[in-house]
Amino acid sequence: MITGAASGIGFSVCELLLQNGFKVIGVGHSKENCEVAYKRLMDKFPNADIIFLYGDMIQQQEVIRIAKDIKKYLHENSSDELFALINNAGCVRSWHMTSNEGYEQQFALNHLAGFLLTHELFPNLILGKGRILFTSSGSHKMMKMRWKDLMFERGYHPLLAYKQSKLCNMLTAYTLNERYRNKGIAAYGVDPGLVNTNIGNKNTGWIVNLVWSLRKKHGVDSTEAAKTYLLLCTGEIPPQELYFGFLKAQKYSKQVNKENADRLFLLSEKLCNIMYSG
Ligand SMILES: NC(=O)c1ccc[n+]([C@@H]2O[C@H](COP(=O)([O-])OP(=O)(O)OC[C@H]3O[C@@H](n4cnc5c(N)ncnc54)[C@H](OP(=O)(O)O)[C@@H]3O)[C@@H](O)[C@H]2O)c1
Repeated sequence: MITGAASGIGFSVCELLLQNGFKVIGVGHSKENCEVAYKRLMDKFPNADIIFLYGDMIQQQEVIRIAKDIKKYLHENSSDELFALINNAGCVRSWHMTSNEGYEQQFALNHLAGFLLTHELFPNLILGKGRILFTSSGSHKMMKMRWKDLMFERGYHPLLAYKQSKLCNMLTAYTLNERYRNKGIAAYGVDPGLVNTNIGNKNTGWIVNLVWSLRKKHGVDSTEAAKTYLLLCTGEIPPQELYFGFLKAQKYSKQVNKENADRLFLLSEKLCNIMYSG
């Protein structure tokens, strides 16, 4: 299953997974975009086994609701097993905006939504000896965790908030591996590279909009980025390394270490009001 499935990288990953015979659960943001994505996929792959669910994953109650629907679907269609979870939904914000819980929105969607969704689906992932992918970014390398002001309440900086959320993806994958490899779980951060999508043009102010419109022209097509996801979802033995991009393992930041990862994991559990087992 994959979030952010109705557009950009997520949509291309859906296409590639379907082309390779996977059954796919896509999660999108709005009903309209999911309907369009579903139609495009069905036109291309008339026998595709795909369903779409949707909701505002910035809000934790929505993540929990979506997870419930997925669990029901897995129970009825897959003996409760989930083979791969791709936490890919993401956003950019120009201003300090918060979720219903009061969490900064890039942190809430890019990090906490995937953290919470993974927790809710964890029994299914254990059953499926699942792989958990987080769409991170090479930009995580240019960031340290701002422990004293995690949600950028004092001086909002869109790019720093974004980079930190992508570092959070790496730290989460790090801890999931440390704790659950012996239970058959494998977690990864994925760097899709610079990809020509509209991420910086949605719900952003004119400066971010303009900068992204110029920058994305240098990006690759999302179908290129999708190939690394397929690589990590296929193969009998899950790769050992933590961070992948451009179809191979990549070096990651020294900030991705046990101390930071444990600290973020504990804090995220508190912020989501959950506790991972074991
Ligand atoms: N493009 C790049 O160069 C690049 C580089 C590194 C990492 N990434 C990461 O790649 C991932 C996918 O981004 P993309 O570039 O493919 O852009 P994108 O097409 O905008 O994909 C983001 C997806 O997340 C969904 N989304 C946004 N807000 C949501 C919400 N509140 N609830 C549920 N879903 C929501 C969007 O749905 P709607 O469009 O319907 O709102 C969209 O399908 C992100 O995590 C991004 O940080 C991108």
